[in-house]
Amino acid sequence: MPGAPDMPYLRYPGAPPAGTQLCHLDELPDTGAKGFLFGGDVNRFDMFVVRQGDRLYAYVNDCPHAHTPLDYMPDRFFNLEKSHLLCGTHGALFRVQDGHCVAGPCKGRRLTPIPVHVAEGMVRIGKFNVS
Ligand code: FES
Repeated sequence: MPGAPDMPYLRYPGAPPAGTQLCHLDELPDTGAKGFLFGGDVNRFDMFVVRQGDRLYAYVNDCPHAHTPLDYMPDRFFNLEKSHLLCGTHGALFRVQDGHCVAGPCKGRRLTPIPVHVAEGMVRIGKFNVS
């Protein structure tokens, strides 16, 4: 589609399509995050959604350093200060708003974003970020 944004998350096997329902907005704590798993084996797709007030952000749960999940415990994606997303494997820090790595072994690289939006109180994968 002309003018459509590039959506590299769709290059991952098992990536769910636009419209896939993730959870109710109320299940996401303010300044919190929640992980979601789809498929299995070679089609396993691991992602997470972050909420900061009225804003939502979502990323593939795949650190650009060594391609491990970020969360060292389920749904633990933030550093202690809740200022950045943290990869629990080697400590890389990522900006919440764009997934850019600001410190750690993959500084300068970024997480793969996933567009999400809220419709009728439900968080869904979208074609564009309109949260
Ligand atoms: S795997 Fe994330 S910082 Fe190394």
